[in-house]
Amino acid sequence: MPPGPWESCFWVGGLLLWLSVGSSGDAPPTPQPKCADFQSANLFEGTDLKVQFLLFVRSNPSCGQLVEGSSDLQNSGFNATLGTKLIIHGFRVLGTKPSWIDKFIRTLLHAMNANVIAVDWIYGSTGVYFSAVKNVIKLSLEISLFLNKLLMLGVSESSIHIIGVSLGAHVGGMVGQLFGGQLGQITDLGIRIPVGHVDYFVNGGQDQPGCPTFFYAGYSYLICDHMRAVHLYISALENSCPLMAFPCASYKAFLAGHCLDCFNPFLLSCPRIGLVEQGGVKIEPLPKEVKVYLLTTSSAPYCMHHSLVEFHLKELRNKDTNIEVTFLSSNVTSSSKITIPKQQRHGKGIMAHATPQCQINQVKFKFQSSNRVWKKDRTTIIGKFCTALLPVNDREKMVCLPDPVNLQASVTVSRDLKIACV
Ligand SMILES: *[C@@H]1O[C@H](CO)[C@@H](O)[C@H](O)[C@H]1NC(C)=O
Ligand SMILES: *[C@@H]1O[C@H](CO)[C@@H](O)[C@H](O)[C@H]1NC(C)=O
Repeated sequence: MPPGPWESCFWVGGLLLWLSVGSSGDAPPTPQPKCADFQSANLFEGTDLKVQFLLFVRSNPSCGQLVEGSSDLQNSGFNATLGTKLIIHGFRVLGTKPSWIDKFIRTLLHAMNANVIAVDWIYGSTGVYFSAVKNVIKLSLEISLFLNKLLMLGVSESSIHIIGVSLGAHVGGMVGQLFGGQLGQITDLGIRIPVGHVDYFVNGGQDQPGCPTFFYAGYSYLICDHMRAVHLYISALENSCPLMAFPCASYKAFLAGHCLDCFNPFLLSCPRIGLVEQGGVKIEPLPKEVKVYLLTTSSAPYCMHHSLVEFHLKELRNKDTNIEVTFLSSNVTSSSKITIPKQQRHGKGIMAHATPQCQINQVKFKFQSSNRVWKKDRTTIIGKFCTALLPVNDREKMVCLPDPVNLQASVTVSRDLKIACV
């Protein structure tokens, strides 16, 4: 969301009001709020942290107020009855302000009324990565001192939510530990091993769609996958579509269709990325280190629907059977592969599609030949195709093509698919 006209209008209005009061002569002019911004550091200045705490409030989401001590907080727009969101950025290779942070703050304040505090540790986060890492403990201690000031103002530990990005995620975890696990929520973006109550592995967690896949792309190669977490979270805050994920032992098992619901361990609620409390999971106590998986598109708003796709062979085969399945809607296609192991009847997979299931009007099949290309393969198979939208809590709700599908190797077969919108 680019800076909208709403914000500019707001500022113009404020200025006019101030001018008219000032010229009347009988009241001292209210000072214009002084907005503070992130610092910028030269390279190799990574020893002194020079931490700034910048408060942003809903009535003026683009104006940071510097809040160091308790008196600053009391004279600022800080409201102890609201929740507090603390944002911690990561390593800054060039010592500059993070490009995503203004939008992040604005979107967060649009999504909810809260005290949003951005931690500027640009000075400590630049230089060589190793020196930034060394500053993590120092910064965590400074942040916990600051949070203690909030607690003195009557803020409850449970109303504090830390959002940490990259190296800032490690800081978030450490601050959480300093408070003995009593802080309300910690959202950290970007680590491979499960460390939270719920750990989201988006597209398996490594390479992200739409990011360069080779090293010559330079810095964007390194940073694109990594920063996708921030853009996903912004999209979740904008609430345009649900980023729902499914618990599974591995990404491979998820893609193979082995994890279709959230019953274990979440009963029936599937976790979602975003502000919804506990990710929408309604069980107490929360289980720990649950790996959950989802697929996304390559650009905002990223969400995809996930469908189980199944093929049941009429006759057993003594070879693995691979079928490429494609869903077509008026303007989008998505593909997936079903493998039926030899001597088994039943194969399945996960299809991710950007359009809702009921907008898909056609399904295409291609039985992949296992013979060498120069030998014409006349093998045919017959089977039944079914699909269901995840989470599949009730297999009765599967939709199957009414007639068996007859497939010859390497020949594409297309069928109409009619699924009612719910
Ligand atoms: C603080 O927030 C609460 C809840 O939104 C609101 O009722 C109250 O008026 C706010 N206080 C101030 C001083 O703005
Ligand atoms: C596809 O069409 C639907 C409905 O007309 C529209 O909402 C959607 O934005 C389109 N998607 C793309 C990728 O063009």
